[in-house]
Amino acid sequence: MPTSDERTVQQLFDLSGRTALITGGTGWLGGAMSRALAEAGASVVISSRDRERASDAASKLPSPGGAAHHGAQLDHMDGGALEAGFSEAVERAGAVDILINNGLDAVGKDLTNITFEEFARHQVNNAGYFILARRFRDHVVGRGAGGSVVNIGSMYGQVASYPDAYEGVCVASPVAYHALKGGTIHMTRHLAAFYARDNVRVNCLSPGPFPSEAASKDMVDRLCTKLPMKRMGLPYELKGALILLASDAGSYITGQNLTVDGGWTAW
Ligand SMILES: NC(=O)c1ccc[n+]([C@@H]2O[C@H](COP(=O)([O-])OP(=O)(O)OC[C@H]3O[C@@H](n4cnc5c(N)ncnc54)[C@H](OP(=O)(O)O)[C@@H]3O)[C@@H](O)[C@H]2O)c1
Repeated sequence: MPTSDERTVQQLFDLSGRTALITGGTGWLGGAMSRALAEAGASVVISSRDRERASDAASKLPSPGGAAHHGAQLDHMDGGALEAGFSEAVERAGAVDILINNGLDAVGKDLTNITFEEFARHQVNNAGYFILARRFRDHVVGRGAGGSVVNIGSMYGQVASYPDAYEGVCVASPVAYHALKGGTIHMTRHLAAFYARDNVRVNCLSPGPFPSEAASKDMVDRLCTKLPMKRMGLPYELKGALILLASDAGSYITGQNLTVDGGWTAW
């Protein structure tokens, strides 16, 4: 017999009545993750460095239960802009219950040519993820509510890349990116330990290879030989894992890194 407080699978994954803020919701994977949140019933605030781009992306989201979606301007590489962006999101939506730290200020250089300044700047992405997570924690605690943070990591925060996957085709995966995403995954554990008493869960979702349509075909062909499933991920294949971590379906999951990578890190 179920206990009196047992909820159904449908209830656990349902995000109706919740608001999710997702950074970089205008991007390749951010777009699919924003749709996932909206399809699960949430009101979604998409943030971008460009307010118009954010609002445009938000206006295209589905709304199965009638939830309103919004755009907000937020640059997580700048402390002041980040504070203003979070306040704008709260102002537009009323409150935020879920934070997805997905945006990435990319660095196009690998270990052969990156400068000290470029390497250091790239790590600022993690400072942005942290300050947003802390701002979010203060916001939900101030309301006497609970919350869920999902940081987007990467398989490259867990394993090295294969030099021969890139040589002669394009720059290798950036060393600064490996340092960044390894940090994202570990910061997740630390925040989870400290925020659990505040009823704020913090997890990481680490995608494997999900190249966009613009990626080099030669590189993609090589990457396909490097993993058990022998194919690249499709953005919608992150939807289930994201909603698991964001919703009450993951109510006893915190401090974890969920890797969705076609088995890349399995061998
Ligand atoms: N694609 C993959 O294969 C893959 C694999 C593993 C992990 N990931 C991770 O998944 C996430 C999304 O990647 P993606 O492939 O979807 O990248 P993407 O298409 O380049 O999207 C990145 C997004 O980040 C936003 N952004 C850039 N600079 C920002 C800043 N300073 N502040 C706030 N937002 C900023 C951009 O939005 P605006 O330009 O509108 O501001 C853009 O929508 C990243 O964290 C990435 O590391 C991706």
